[in-house]
Amino acid sequence: MLRSTTLAVPECADVPRHLAIIMDGNGRWATKRFLPRTAGHVRGVQAVRRAVEACGRRGVEYLTLFAFSSENWRRPQEEVSLLMRLFIQTLEKEVSKLNDQGVRLRIVGDLSPFEPRLQELIQAAEQRTAHNTTLNLTIAANYGGRWDILQAFRRLLQARPDLANDPQAVDESLLTQYLSMSYAPEPDLFIRTGGEQRISNFLVWQLAYTELYFSDDFWPDFGPKEIDAAFDWYRTRERRFGRTSAQVAQQP
Ligand code: FPP
Repeated sequence: MLRSTTLAVPECADVPRHLAIIMDGNGRWATKRFLPRTAGHVRGVQAVRRAVEACGRRGVEYLTLFAFSSENWRRPQEEVSLLMRLFIQTLEKEVSKLNDQGVRLRIVGDLSPFEPRLQELIQAAEQRTAHNTTLNLTIAANYGGRWDILQAFRRLLQARPDLANDPQAVDESLLTQYLSMSYAPEPDLFIRTGGEQRISNFLVWQLAYTELYFSDDFWPDFGPKEIDAAFDWYRTRERRFGRTSAQVAQQP
């Protein structure tokens, strides 16, 4: 079982084991060029491809990308439809390549509102890549961190109705088994592009001890060079997990 950082101090390496990214700034990238916002999302997909390759080469084990939040349904209908079409096209075109690269793909979030074709493609892609071990790529789609905690809690109560009479028995390690990314360690590094400095309901439980890196670059401009700059910054961080600097220095 992968323990929460509040229960155990994880090992830290030069390259983050788990990198989580909010890919922000697609719309502004396009607007700056007098293009429709949707053109920015198309370029955003190319940046996803580059990030997957770069992370694979650098030894990242888990890469998690926020592609569509539960709040993104509030966008203009035309933009939401384009994003759905892009997900479908990307799955149709990219899964073979990802499979050849040894990437295991998982999609997390409430997939129930997605059209049947998209749900089928997601299921097929997850099954096809399930044996891969090089890089665990997770796309968060119709995902919200609060939704995740709530669904975990509901599923736990469904599986263990006895706990309603014994609330003290509910602890972190039990609840985290029901989070949608229970298969992954908590992120070591979080990157948000596009100049905003917030978490926007991404992995709210799992980011408790994550190093947070904010870049002014728009997502379509974020490539291997920018990833290396983020990793260089990450290496300068002292990850104390509540300990003192002296204790960190003494660790074996
Ligand atoms: C944020 O930029 C980006 C999104 C809401 C969508 C992210 C989607 C992609 C990168 C393409 C699809 C990805 C996959 C995995 C198929 P924004 O639109 O909020 O930009 P803005 O802040 O400049 O308006």
